[in-house]
Amino acid sequence: MISQDYLQELAQRTDLVELVSGYVKLRHRGRTYTGLCPFHSEKTPSFVVYPENQSFYCFGCGVGGDAITFVKKIQNVDYLEAVKTLAARAGMPLPEEKDDTSRLKSRILAMNKDAARFYCAQLNTPEGMQARGYLRARALQDATIRRFGLGYSPAGFHTTSDYLQKKGYTQQEMLAGGMIRQSQKGGYFDFFRGRVMFPIIDLRGNVIAFGGRRMGEEGGPKYLNSGDTPVFKKSRNMFALNLAKRSKSRRYILCEGYMDAIALHQAGFDTAVAPLGTAFTPEQARLLSTYADELVLSYDSDEAGQKATRRAIAILEQESIKVSVLGITGAKDPDEFLKKYGAERFSMLLDGCSNAIEYELSRAKAKYDLATADGRLSYVREAIGVLCGRCTPTERDVYIGRLSQETDISRQALSSQLQSALRQLNRRDERKRQQQLLSEGSVGRVKVPYSQGGQKAMGVAFAEQQLMAAAIKKPEFLPYILKKLSAQQLLSQQIAQIYTAVGQLYEQGQYVDFSALSQCLTDETRTLLSRILAQNYDVAFTQRDVDFYLDKIAQSVPRSSQAGKMSEAELSDYLDKLKQKKLKGNHNG
Ligand code: UTP
Ligand code: MN
Repeated sequence: MISQDYLQELAQRTDLVELVSGYVKLRHRGRTYTGLCPFHSEKTPSFVVYPENQSFYCFGCGVGGDAITFVKKIQNVDYLEAVKTLAARAGMPLPEEKDDTSRLKSRILAMNKDAARFYCAQLNTPEGMQARGYLRARALQDATIRRFGLGYSPAGFHTTSDYLQKKGYTQQEMLAGGMIRQSQKGGYFDFFRGRVMFPIIDLRGNVIAFGGRRMGEEGGPKYLNSGDTPVFKKSRNMFALNLAKRSKSRRYILCEGYMDAIALHQAGFDTAVAPLGTAFTPEQARLLSTYADELVLSYDSDEAGQKATRRAIAILEQESIKVSVLGITGAKDPDEFLKKYGAERFSMLLDGCSNAIEYELSRAKAKYDLATADGRLSYVREAIGVLCGRCTPTERDVYIGRLSQETDISRQALSSQLQSALRQLNRRDERKRQQQLLSEGSVGRVKVPYSQGGQKAMGVAFAEQQLMAAAIKKPEFLPYILKKLSAQQLLSQQIAQIYTAVGQLYEQGQYVDFSALSQCLTDETRTLLSRILAQNYDVAFTQRDVDFYLDKIAQSVPRSSQAGKMSEAELSDYLDKLKQKKLKGNHNG
C-alpha cells in the first residue's frame, strides 16, 4: 500500500501538461491543452488536458484520468510501475527505494526529528529559560509553542552535535543534513547555536529543515535557515503548510515571516503559510494552488513588503488561484497587527480585502494628485499599465469605466489608449522572445546567408522571402520596410500578396502575426508563409539583414510591371538553381 500522503505529494510534483507533452503535441487553448489522442487514432484533436485539476479526457474514445492513469495506459504498465515512473520524474524516493541516497535521506529525517525533540527539551533547561522568556515576550502561548514544535539550540559549539553523535549519527550525516559546518581550520561546529528554533515540517510530517532566530540584537543574521539538503529544497516547501492543509478553509493567507504565520495560527487563522527565508517561488505558487482556492497576500506594510507583494502577484498569474491583497495599515506586519488590534479586526480586513487589480490601481491612484491634469494623466498611464496585465476583457471594461469617472477622461479615449498599450505589449513580448532566443545561443545558428560566402548566390526571390520573415518576426522593422518597399516591386506574386496583407494589418493597427495574416491569404500562399516562417523559426534578423534584403530587391528588379512577374513555377525553378549554385559556392569556399 502506498500512503495517501505520498500519492498526494507525487501528484503535486507532477505537471500533467508537461508529462503528456512528452507523448502528445499539445496546443494551448484558453485554460486547457488539446492534442491528438494517443490512445486511438484520430485526425482532429479531441484529447484535452485540464491543468487546473490535473486531469485529461478524450472526447473521441472516452479515456480519461490523472497522471497515474496516463502513465499506466501509455506505457502499458501496472499501477505500482506507473507510480514509480512518476516518482522518478519528480525526483521523489520510490515507495520502496533502498539505495544509498534513500538511506541517507531517511537517516537525515530521523536525525532532524531527534534534533527537533532535543531543541524542544532545551526550552526547559536553565539555559533555555531565556528562549522561553523570549517566546513569552512575543506573546506565544504554550499550546502554540508545542503545535509548532518550537525549541532552543544551545549556545555551545558542539552541544547539539555531541548529542546527535550519542544518538548514533555520523559526522557525514550531520554535514549532509546541515546540522554542522566545517570551519576554515577544518574542525566542525554546530550550525544553530543559541537560537530559537523553528522546525520546518513537510506535508508528510517530516522535519525537513530548521530556521533559527537570534534573541538579541547581536549574534549574526536575524534568522539562519538550513541550506538545501537531500531532504529539503526551500523553494519547494512552505512554512506551516503541514498545519494549513488540515484546515477546512480553502482561503490561504500568505505572509512573509515565520512569526507572522505563527501569530496568525494562534489567533485562529489556521491557513497562514510563509515562504522559507527566500522570496516566494513559482513552485510554491503551484504547491499552494493545489490546496487553496484563494490566496490572500498579507505581506509587511513596508516598501520591501509591497515590492514582494507585486512579485508574488506576478508569479501567481500563472496559477488558477484567486489572489487578493490585504492592505495592513497601522502595523508593520500581521504579527504586530494582531497584537495591536486583535483577531477580530484582522478578520474584518480579510473580508474586505481587495483583489489584485484593485490593489494595484489603488496604489497607483494614491501616488498622484487627481486634482491636477498632470496627476490625472500620470494616474491614467499607470492604470493602463495595470490593466494590460492579467485582466479579462470584462474586468478591463469595468475598470476603464471607473477610471473614466475618476479622471473625467472619456471612456473612449481611455479604451483606445489601452488598446494601443496592449498592441505595444504584444510587440515587446515578441522582441523579448527574440532576445531570449539570442541569449540561448541561437546566434551561432543564425543563417545570415551573405556571411557564408554566398552573397552572389543570394537571389532576389530568396531575399523577398527572408524580408517577409523579418517583417513578421520583428514588427519593429515594419515601418522602415513599408517606407522603403512597395508591393509592386516584388517579384513573386505570392510574396506580394503576403506583403500587401502585412501592410494592411499594420495600417489598421492590428498585430501582424501568422494567424492574423492567414485570414487574408489564399491556401497556397498561407502554406508558403508557414514554410518561410518555419524555416526562419530560430533566425534573429538584424537591421543589417533587412537592409541587405531591401538592397537586393531594389537593385535586381527592374521596376517591373505585373506582366514582368515570374510564375510560381519559374520562380521555384529559379530558387532551385540558386540553391545549387550556393551549395557549390560553399564547397569551393
Ligand atoms: P522578517 O524580518 O519580517 O521576519 O523576515 P519575522 O518572521 O517577522 O520575524 P520577527 O517578527 O522580526 O521575529 C521575514 C522572513 O524572512 C526570512 C525569514 O524566513 C523571516 O521569517 N529571514 C529574515 C531570513 O531568512 N533571514 C533573516 O536574517 C531575516
Ligand atoms: Mn516581522
